Amino acid sequence: MNNVDFNLLDQQLRALLDDQSDALADTANFVALLYQALDDVNWLGVYVLRGKDLVLGPFQGLPACVRIPLGKGVCGDAAARRETLRVADVHAYPGHIACDPASRSEIVVPLLVRSELLGLLDIDSPSLDRFSQRDQDGLELLCRSFSELLARHDGFI
Ligand code: SME
Repeated sequence: MNNVDFNLLDQQLRALLDDQSDALADTANFVALLYQALDDVNWLGVYVLRGKDLVLGPFQGLPACVRIPLGKGVCGDAAARRETLRVADVHAYPGHIACDPASRSEIVVPLLVRSELLGLLDIDSPSLDRFSQRDQDGLELLCRSFSELLARHDGFI
C-alpha cells in the first residue's frame, strides 16, 4: 500500500459517489474502489452499527462473521472507542475474531457522521504489520469523505 496516492483515491471516491443517491450502492462502490487500489489485502469491508451490534455489510473477500457485539474483537473495540485500531499481529490481539485464517494484520477505521457512529471499515492483510501510520492517515481521510457523502442520504444501509 506504500505507493497508494490517497489524495487521488479521495478524488476518485468523490467522483464515483457524486451522482449516486443510494447508501447501499455507494457503500458497495466504496468497498470495491478500495479493494482494487490496495495491495496485499485479503478482506476489506464495512460493518454497520445496528443497536449494540456491528452487522456485516458490503465486502470483498471470504464470507465473514455476520454479527459482532460492541467491545468484542478488533472491530468491536474500535467501534466502542470510536477510534482507529491498527493491529500488527492479530494472533497477539486478545479477543481477535478470526474470519479468514489467512489474516495476520488488520486496520479498523470508524465511520462517523457528526460524532455519530454509523459503522466501520475493516481491512485484513495476510502480511504481518501491513498497515503503516501513512496508511492509517490515508484511510481516515477516505472514511471522513465517505461518511460526509453518506450524510446526504436519509439513513445508512
Ligand atoms: N477480525 C475482526 C472480525 C472481522 S473479520 O476480520 C472480517 C475482529 O476481530 O473484529
